[in-house]
Amino acid sequence: MLKVSSINQYYRESHTLWDLSLDVPKGSVTCLMGRNGVGKTTLLKCIMGLESITDGSIQFKDTEISKLNAEKRAIHKIGYVPQGREIFSQLTVEDNLNTGLVANNSKQLPSIIFELFPVLKEMLHRRGGDLSGGQQQQLALGRALAIEPELLILDEPTEGIQPNIVREIGDIIKKLNQELGLTVLLVEQKLPFARRVASNFCILEKGRDVANGSINELDDQLIDKYLKV
Ligand SMILES: Nc1ncnc2c1ncn2[C@@H]1O[C@H](COP(=O)(O)OP(=O)(O)O)[C@@H](O)[C@H]1O
Ligand SMILES: [Mg+2]
Repeated sequence: MLKVSSINQYYRESHTLWDLSLDVPKGSVTCLMGRNGVGKTTLLKCIMGLESITDGSIQFKDTEISKLNAEKRAIHKIGYVPQGREIFSQLTVEDNLNTGLVANNSKQLPSIIFELFPVLKEMLHRRGGDLSGGQQQQLALGRALAIEPELLILDEPTEGIQPNIVREIGDIIKKLNQELGLTVLLVEQKLPFARRVASNFCILEKGRDVANGSINELDDQLIDKYLKV
């Protein structure tokens, strides 16, 4: 569904992604892994059109998207939950959700958002900043679902979230994948979470892809070499 081939990316003169390739098969939950600073967030931003690449290609459902701006990519049905969630704390829950519609042509929020996250309906007129961390993550997920994406991209969705809510978020991702057929690409540092939720993995090291496979191939040797801090 998503195929990144040999991309290079620079922050000014700093070469950050090196001939990086990533394959996200349709129907998979692919977990992007690697230590802090290896380029996981940068890769997701390149996919979303928030950072530009110097060469290589990014194909979504056989369409080359690397030359399209970020709004156009959303139209191609890629939903994105950024690291740190980026909720507008002064806006209401409703207005936060509506910002997710901007890139879309439809005017109405899909009802699935409130079916998955009933708490958002209850808190529709509260300010985003008044929500707990777990509720804000649900809001960020709901906002990404406003365009009814086919591919959902999540950058560390469990970062700074209480353990009991982490499990809930894992259940929601599995449900979106298994029941609604969404393909998911997520960055996740927690191994038990990755093993429970993901079907595939890809590991980055210093801006390069160094290992990938199905999640049951993620063995201790790879973990020691690339993931242990
Ligand atoms: N806006 C930026 N400008 C310059 N350097 C950046 C910027 N964002 C990230 N970097 C650098 O790029 C590298 C990769 O960062 P990042 O993609 O955030 O890694 P990860 O998400 O894997 O922790 C790091 O060395 C980081 O300091
Ligand atoms: Mg990151």
